[in-house]
Amino acid sequence: MDDQLEIDRLRRHDFIRTLWFEETVGSTNTELRERIGRDRWHPPILMLTEKQTAGRGRGNHRWWAGPGSLAFSVLINGSQWNWPEGRQLPISLAVGVAMVEAIQSFLPNLPVGLHWPNDLYIEGQKIGGILIEGLPKNRWILGIGVNINNSQQWAPLELRNRLTSLIDLKGKKIDRTEILEKALDGLAEILPGLSSLSSNWSEKFDLYCSQKGEMLQVFQGEKIIRGICEGIAADGGLRLMTEHGQQTVYTGSLRSD
Ligand code: BTN
Repeated sequence: MDDQLEIDRLRRHDFIRTLWFEETVGSTNTELRERIGRDRWHPPILMLTEKQTAGRGRGNHRWWAGPGSLAFSVLINGSQWNWPEGRQLPISLAVGVAMVEAIQSFLPNLPVGLHWPNDLYIEGQKIGGILIEGLPKNRWILGIGVNINNSQQWAPLELRNRLTSLIDLKGKKIDRTEILEKALDGLAEILPGLSSLSSNWSEKFDLYCSQKGEMLQVFQGEKIIRGICEGIAADGGLRLMTEHGQQTVYTGSLRSD
């Protein structure tokens, strides 16, 4: 199967008003941030590349994106959907729900899970990651990386057992344009209602949570909160049963015991 991204097809997607494509960039998040300062544009903007050479993850981690992976960023303006400024919204998890459903549609028999706060997992291995960056004036960069036709065998040794990809799980190539279209469909459905927590997709945070029943350690600077994961609340908090009772955690980095 030809593995080219079909740019003209993506340009026609209803959710996107501007599409920028570069064959190679350092990081799509960084490139998008630089370009909005100098080019004319209308959000939502999709920044897409075939090859990312300096992909970034949360907390200064690097993101490996071998040939055949999907690396893209979307710039959105929250004011377009009346998102209140200054209130923390579960953007990363909402994007996660869109990505879980897009990936799941290609893998009907293996549950794809949300790994709080910003990862996508299948059977204990990472298949994707999300990096959200806020800009002034209620604008946000949603950076998304998914391992699709990049086999784990080509990954750096230290990552090889911790990640998986669609080609490894399905044994054949996936149309990256189609999965990206599905992801954009999901974003179009979920993001406009993000500030209203009553919508039924927020229940999906919990439905797709892949860490239920695991003993987790959340690192918040010097502080460590330990507890058994009970799921994800509708407002995006991680629900833990700790030795002091139930606690909902909103920030921090994670480690399983
Ligand atoms: C993480 O695992 O912590 C998040 C990884 C996010 C990677 C994506 S790839 C597209 C976009 N550009 C980047 O530099 N990072 C995100």
